[in-house]
Amino acid sequence: MEVIIRTDPAAVAELTCQLIAARLNAKSDLVLGLATGRTMERVYERLVAKHKNDGLDFSRCHTFNLDEYIGVPPEDEHSYRFYMNHHLFSRVNIDLGNTHVPDGMATDLRAGAAHYEQLIRKAGGIDVQLLGIGEAGHIGFNEPLSALMSRTRDKALTPLTRKQNAEMFGGDPEKVPKRALTMGVGTILDARELLLLATGKAKASILAKAVEGPITAMISASAIQLHPNCKVIVDEDAAGELTEREYYNWVFANEPEWQEFQS
Ligand code: F6R
Repeated sequence: MEVIIRTDPAAVAELTCQLIAARLNAKSDLVLGLATGRTMERVYERLVAKHKNDGLDFSRCHTFNLDEYIGVPPEDEHSYRFYMNHHLFSRVNIDLGNTHVPDGMATDLRAGAAHYEQLIRKAGGIDVQLLGIGEAGHIGFNEPLSALMSRTRDKALTPLTRKQNAEMFGGDPEKVPKRALTMGVGTILDARELLLLATGKAKASILAKAVEGPITAMISASAIQLHPNCKVIVDEDAAGELTEREYYNWVFANEPEWQEFQS
């Protein structure tokens, strides 16, 4: 794992956008794992700008989102399908048929989840998976006690997660759906590269536990420690409780792979 500390959320989004653009330019049929949420909005804004200004080409790219609320139809503005269409898919030259979000309206959720896993396998697996982190320590909607080998399935959301996401539902946690369909921790770990992003002071404590604490199913984000190719990109605020910041900064400043990204 590498931890890259940038000054602010804008710089976190910029570096992430540069990394994704580099992967997409190297492999036009990239399979990209996507996340939703506030942290990602800036990343998608920049990817859209890179498409418009530099011709970043999504025409052969396939995408798989981490999760979707159960019982929220795709045309509802609260659904993650709506979020993705709005923030990214409708603004770049991606083929909508190549974009995938778990089906939270499936009558048989278990079959829907198995089908999603099958689609990922058929696409050849995920090349790069974007991840945010919730205050409950989740990646995707893998709430505490999610098995580290779990696959796509439905999961009950914690009160903390519903509170965290209430802003998008008029501020009322009761309006946030109680369940979601999410890739499992095991599904996420199968991706060939992970990029986990965190910004803001509210994430500092859980980020430090996930990155420097013990691996535990109580904090599913700690499972990224098992992954051989994981980059954690955070701003100064989210990095506030990391103990080895000096070392992380030295690596970013000195390792050859990061030279082209220095600014
Ligand atoms: C969303 C997702 C979640 C979010 C996390 C952080 O698809 O998978 O794990 O990434 O809850 O959300 P924000 O960025 O809104 O703080």
